Amino acid sequence: MAQPQQQMMEMPDLSNAIVAQDEMGRPFIIVKDQSNKKRQHGLEAKKSHILAARSVASIIKTSLGPRGLDKILISPDGEITITNDGATILSQMELDNQIAKLLVQLSKSQDDEIGDGTTGVVVIASALLDQALELIDKGIHPIKIANGFDEAAKLAVSHLESVTEDITAIEFEKDSKLLNDYLFKAAKTSLGSKIVSKVHDKFAQMAVDSILSVMDKERKDVDFDLIKLQTRVGGSLEDSSLIKGVLLDKEFSHPQMPSKVLPREGQKSVKLAILTCPFEPPKPKTKHKLDISSVEEYKKLQTYEQDKFKEMIQYVKDSGADVVICQWGFDDEANHLLLQNELPAVRWVGGQELEHIAISTNGRIVPRFQDLSPDKLGECSSIYELEFGTTKDRMLVIEQPEESKTVTCFIRGSNKMIIDEAQRALHDSLCVVRNLIKDSRIVYGGGAAEVTMSLAVSEEADKQRGIHQYAFKAFANALDTVPMTLAENSGLDPIETLSTLKSKQLKENIPVFGVDCLGKGSNDMKELFVVDPFISKKQQIMLATQLCRMILKIDNVIISGKDEY
Ligand SMILES: Nc1ncnc2c1ncn2[C@@H]1O[C@H](COP(=O)(O)OP(=O)(O)OP(=O)(O)O)[C@@H](O)[C@H]1O
Ligand SMILES: [Mg+2]
Repeated sequence: MAQPQQQMMEMPDLSNAIVAQDEMGRPFIIVKDQSNKKRQHGLEAKKSHILAARSVASIIKTSLGPRGLDKILISPDGEITITNDGATILSQMELDNQIAKLLVQLSKSQDDEIGDGTTGVVVIASALLDQALELIDKGIHPIKIANGFDEAAKLAVSHLESVTEDITAIEFEKDSKLLNDYLFKAAKTSLGSKIVSKVHDKFAQMAVDSILSVMDKERKDVDFDLIKLQTRVGGSLEDSSLIKGVLLDKEFSHPQMPSKVLPREGQKSVKLAILTCPFEPPKPKTKHKLDISSVEEYKKLQTYEQDKFKEMIQYVKDSGADVVICQWGFDDEANHLLLQNELPAVRWVGGQELEHIAISTNGRIVPRFQDLSPDKLGECSSIYELEFGTTKDRMLVIEQPEESKTVTCFIRGSNKMIIDEAQRALHDSLCVVRNLIKDSRIVYGGGAAEVTMSLAVSEEADKQRGIHQYAFKAFANALDTVPMTLAENSGLDPIETLSTLKSKQLKENIPVFGVDCLGKGSNDMKELFVVDPFISKKQQIMLATQLCRMILKIDNVIISGKDEY
């Protein structure tokens, strides 16, 4: 029997229907067409995620290690960035895959928390996902894999913790040279892969010196606001320097003011008045008007203004200041008077810089001339102008070599791209040194730490019963990707290198053998001084495992397109 025709017709989805009325008040229904909505689910979703992660990781993998390559990124408006920093590469790529975006966030969170290791974390995460894919193909349930990875990660980190070396066993005060040495080595390792590697000694020393000058010894913490990075195009990276004190992109307000100010005779330091009040006569407020109708009145006003200026200068002089730093501008009259009174001055100093100067020179920021007093003045050892090239380009250095609470890293380079990358590299190494101040345990780099963890995890795998065994093995394999990638990027045979490292570590039972990326002829990372902070490695493993777990738990992707009527 023929079916009634109505049943043959496919019913539209009425779940999103809207009832409307036409101009005559007759009701009608609008049915949304949801054909734009996409949906992936189950294994298909997981596999597509893993493939997306793999393609992102394959871009970034070649940047890992001292022989890693740089990338050039061009923004939509044509701005060029050349970089080796994982977080920067990822953040500038325009990705439209959701999982790829998760990887970007992963490296960003490593960057926020630790500062270095942003390439490594993505390499580990994608290796874990790759391994998970194989296990899924074997028919193991994703949640079982995720749980197994979780336990393996805990085991790996606790094993690594047991083989760390603590550098505060060397006491801070007793042997500061040895401590400096270790900090220096770690900073140098983090710079090894960057554009500044030719001058990495200089940059590493700069990082160590800046952190040691501004660190809070009691809290064992570093406030990064006290370290300022200033840059100027021109010169080369070798001309970069660390200035203890503040570097201002300003010059003295009058060309006849001296270009160098030293302490006056009998004084130990140059005294600075740091002002947020302008060198200006008081002005009538907006509602009032000043009418001048005769010459006398005008003269009166002029003398009044001059008296005001003199009064201000007198306040500054009385306080004993040698130099005036002012947040506001001042006109020619005030400038002239300052020069006459031998008070070199700097105008239009920004609020943040003013704070820096106050912190560095131990002075107070003074909002009124009447409030100036000798105890509120800042002190520094000298103030001088730096000149660049043939241009009349000048900067002011307010120097305080001993006990400066702020420092400025002044980076020079031949073009903006190099300077920007040098700045990022210096930031990485500052972070490494800061991390070691916070937690002084180190592990050996060049993949040595990963090999150690991998060996421990695969040893444990053999003791496991059931599915965990697979997950543990897979986790160990994922860890091996780091030394293998380092070897591959350095032109070595990855598998051969890995097996040599493993057999060496097993035989001698010390966690110091890593990939000899620079061809120094030794695998002993202790001898080559390649060290990484323990918290950086720990964070890498934890974050990567967390992300992998999260992705494995997703089994539905619903992308809602624009609704069409
Ligand atoms: N001289 C060296 N020999 C061997 N391995 C090294 C050497 N210098 C650094 N490494 C290793 O290179 C890896 C770091 O590489 P790289 O700095 O490119 O990546 P990252 O720190 O993960 O990311 P990023 O610095 O971009 O945030 C670490 O595993 C480190 O131990
Ligand atoms: Mg690094």
